[in-house]
Amino acid sequence: MAEELYELGYTQCEQLNRAVQISGSWDDVYKLNLFCRCAISILVEIDQFFIQSEEDLYKRSLQIKWHEIFDVNKTFAVKGAIFSPIFKNTHYPFLLVKDAIVDTFNKRFNQRPNIDVKTPNVLFDLYIKDKQVTISVNTSGLPLFQRGYRSSVGAAPLNEVVAACLVRMSGWDRKQTFVDPFCGSGTILIEAALLAAGIPSNIERQHYAFKNLKNYNAKCWEDIYQGATRIVRQLPCNIIGGDISDEMVLKARRNLRKFSFGRLVEISSTSFDQLKMEPPVFILTNPPYDQRLAANILDLYGQLGTWLKHKMAPSSVCIISSSREGFNAIGLKASAKHLVYNGDIECEFRKYELFEGKKDLN
Ligand SMILES: C[S@@+](CC[C@H](N)C(=O)[O-])C[C@H]1O[C@@H](n2cnc3c(N)ncnc32)[C@H](O)[C@@H]1O
Repeated sequence: MAEELYELGYTQCEQLNRAVQISGSWDDVYKLNLFCRCAISILVEIDQFFIQSEEDLYKRSLQIKWHEIFDVNKTFAVKGAIFSPIFKNTHYPFLLVKDAIVDTFNKRFNQRPNIDVKTPNVLFDLYIKDKQVTISVNTSGLPLFQRGYRSSVGAAPLNEVVAACLVRMSGWDRKQTFVDPFCGSGTILIEAALLAAGIPSNIERQHYAFKNLKNYNAKCWEDIYQGATRIVRQLPCNIIGGDISDEMVLKARRNLRKFSFGRLVEISSTSFDQLKMEPPVFILTNPPYDQRLAANILDLYGQLGTWLKHKMAPSSVCIISSSREGFNAIGLKASAKHLVYNGDIECEFRKYELFEGKKDLN
């Protein structure tokens, strides 16, 4: 995230636990929602304070001018994370803040906003670490991996934000031929193509919770949205995908059709080892792994390793998988390993540099 923000021109950025923080204006909030590929949500801090007791949370929350943030006719919800011995029940802090919001409106207007836990118009984030409370408004609402471009998914799709982060972490230069030989519904290919084309990953998304806030400036948002690149006639590199399943290939093609570059991405219905391409290429892929897809993992990964060694050198290869046995069966020495999560599945992301000759063998 920090690296992506730097590229977007936000050079002063503090890294927190699973978050990064910058200072900015509401223009920046709109820009970040549209342009960040690696963020799940963009939060704007409303207040930060210390508490000694449960009651303190309610009292301090009553002091926030909620009615200046949203109108009584909007629905809302309070979500977040609690790491504090002050609360025995970790649901209770959310109820306290919700009560403070409702009571603020009731007192002022004799009217209260309704709660909608599933699809609220306005979403607040409550984070409590020991005695420190941070309350933010979640300006994205639905998580930003809901990009609006993927209507067809397979049995084990990769979350779009994870795919974007992997493309970034892989170090791909956005010029070398990019290949996903196990492309499924095409998430990695689409995120790679969007990055290479300079099109925001959220260009197809219309829903943002900031549109429901009182300070929403429609003109400012429209200027930012209309100013973004959305159409390209060519890509700066070849992007190639393949999948053994005809059904998945159809899904990937259907998802790609939403974009101007859709026809420029070649997808073949074939096993990885029959994919037509000449090394050197840049491979980033998510082969099947046991938790979600039944497959004879060890055989498949063994064949993948042999194909990479004998057919694909010299190339760079990045693989995300939760199967340690699978990685062992590949039989190549990784140049980098990272622990990553795909949803709640713990995975590893390994990078390999394939050289001609025997240098890369274990
Ligand atoms: C984990 S899924 C990939 C999901 C993909 N990243 C997405 O976001 O939709 C693995 C894919 O590998 C495909 N597959 C299995 N064996 C294959 C083979 N030998 N060659 C090519 N694809 C294969 C499956 O059909 C499945 O779509």
